[in-house]
Amino acid sequence: MFNDKTAFITGGAQRIGAHIALNLAKAGYNIILHYHHSSKEAHNLKDTIKSYNRSCFIYSADLSDETSTLSMIEALKNKFSTIDLIINNAATYHPDSLIDLDDHEFSLQMHTNFKAPMLISKHFKSDDNPNHIINMLDKKITTIDQKRFSYWMSKKSLEQFTYYAACMLAPHTRVNAIAPGLMMQPVNQTYSEDTLEEKRNKTPLQRLGNPDDIVNGILALESLTFTTGQVLFIDGGMHLIN
Ligand SMILES: NC(=O)c1ccc[n+]([C@@H]2O[C@H](COP(=O)([O-])OP(=O)(O)OC[C@H]3O[C@@H](n4cnc5c(N)ncnc54)[C@H](OP(=O)(O)O)[C@@H]3O)[C@@H](O)[C@H]2O)c1
Repeated sequence: MFNDKTAFITGGAQRIGAHIALNLAKAGYNIILHYHHSSKEAHNLKDTIKSYNRSCFIYSADLSDETSTLSMIEALKNKFSTIDLIINNAATYHPDSLIDLDDHEFSLQMHTNFKAPMLISKHFKSDDNPNHIINMLDKKITTIDQKRFSYWMSKKSLEQFTYYAACMLAPHTRVNAIAPGLMMQPVNQTYSEDTLEEKRNKTPLQRLGNPDDIVNGILALESLTFTTGQVLFIDGGMHLIN
């Protein structure tokens, strides 16, 4: 089972990122785990990953801040000769619209959700051994999200960057993306059982997703070594209907 590959997950201390990190460790990857505020969770996860006989290196950086992002990139490049798999997972998800747009909020979401993944991709391009970058998007990229303008713009930008980078970083680096539907309720928001039922009924596959679906998508993309520039929707078919 041990494959001795190294995977780097941003925003990996909690929720979907933590689930990815744990399951990639179970699948045999050594883990580099980035976090921002979730220090306690990152340290706990490191202990769990080490109990699977995998190594885990944790690093904190504010991805909305370019200096902090570039320092992290430099530190990782000095420590690791190769990173086989990079999951650009960290994101902020705040409501806003063009009408009441706040410059600071727009920059914060564009930096965290788009510019940091772009810089990470640029600096971890491989010139010899194959490696693979997966950008976490959102099924909302197929429509317009009027209530989350900055978030939506950042994910649309990351989608277009995925296509660009797939060409630009080839032949040694593959760049793909996963566009999830609802997997976990947003932080600080709880949907009622009626709302969840409504969302389930609206979904062509008649169920909501869960983080295992994301892990399955990552492992599938890892095995598809002739695939680059692909956006894999993991949303039960929701991108087809709204
Ligand atoms: N949840 C869903 O159902 C869903 C649906 C569609 C798409 N997605 C996408 O899937 C990915 C994971 O979703 P999620 O719900 O698990 O995400 P999340 O909990 O909202 O955020 C993931 C992590 O991003 C990190 N982060 C936020 N701002 C940061 C900053 N300025 N610098 C560095 N790290 C920062 C946080 O790290 P710390 O905790 O360490 O501060 C957080 O734990 C995201 O890209 C999201 O857009 C999720």
